[in-house]
Amino acid sequence: TEHKGILIAIDGPSGSGKSTVAKAIAVRLGITYLDTGAMYRALTWFCLEQGIDLDKTELVRQQADSLDFSMTHDPHSPRFFAGDIDITAEIRTPRVAERVAEVARNLSVRSWMATEQRRVMTQARESGHGMIAEGRDITTVVCPDADVRVLLLADEKERLRRRTYELYGSDAPQYLKATAKQIGERDRSDATVSDFFEAAEGVSVIDSTGKSIEDVVDEIVAMTRSL
Ligand code: DC
Repeated sequence: TEHKGILIAIDGPSGSGKSTVAKAIAVRLGITYLDTGAMYRALTWFCLEQGIDLDKTELVRQQADSLDFSMTHDPHSPRFFAGDIDITAEIRTPRVAERVAEVARNLSVRSWMATEQRRVMTQARESGHGMIAEGRDITTVVCPDADVRVLLLADEKERLRRRTYELYGSDAPQYLKATAKQIGERDRSDATVSDFFEAAEGVSVIDSTGKSIEDVVDEIVAMTRSL
C-alpha cells in the first residue's frame, strides 16, 4: 500500500487527546497501533501485584523481564497481557494510574522500555505493516527517525475537561476538581524526566484546543501524503 512500513510518532501530555487521535489515524491508514503508556502501566501493575517497592529502581527494572508482557496492535481494540492474563482493564484503574509516574521516572525502566518499543516499531517497519506509536518520548528518544513526528498539545483547561470525561464520564465541577489534582501531580512528575511539552527539532506541534478529533486526524494524515 501507499503507507507500507510507515512509522508515525505522537507525543503529548495527559489529556492532549493523543490516544484517541492515534487510534483514529491507525484505522484511517490501515496501520498498527502502539500505546507506550500502557507498557509503563503494565509494569506498574505487575510490581504492585508482586508487592515490589517502587523506590527500588533496579528491582523494578528486573520485573520487566518477569512480566512476560504482550499486546495486540489492532487500533480497534488494543489488549494487554501478562503471560496469558488479560490486564487491559487493570492497567486503567486508579490504583495503577496513581503510581505509574514513579515507574516512568525510573531511568533503568525507561531505557528498557525504549529498547523494547524500538524493537516493536522496527518490526512494524520491516514487515510493511506500519505503526503509529504514542507516548511522551517517541518523537525524541524511541523513534526520532519516524516518518511523521507530532507533539500534540492542548491548553490546561481543555486537558482537564477531557481527562475528567475519560475518568468519570462527566465534567461536573466536583469531578473537575478531583481530576485537577491528579493532572497537576502527573505533569509535575512527568516533567522530572524531561520537558514533554517542548518539541524537538523537526517535530510538528499541533494544538488541539478547540479542534475536533477529526480535524487533528485530518491534519496528521495530510502530513503522510506529503512524504
Ligand atoms: O499516557 P499514559 O497516561 O498511559 O501514560 C502513563 C504514564 O507513563 C505517565 O506517567 C507518562 C508515562 N509515559 C512515559 O513516561 N513515556 C511514555 N512513552 C509513555 C508514558
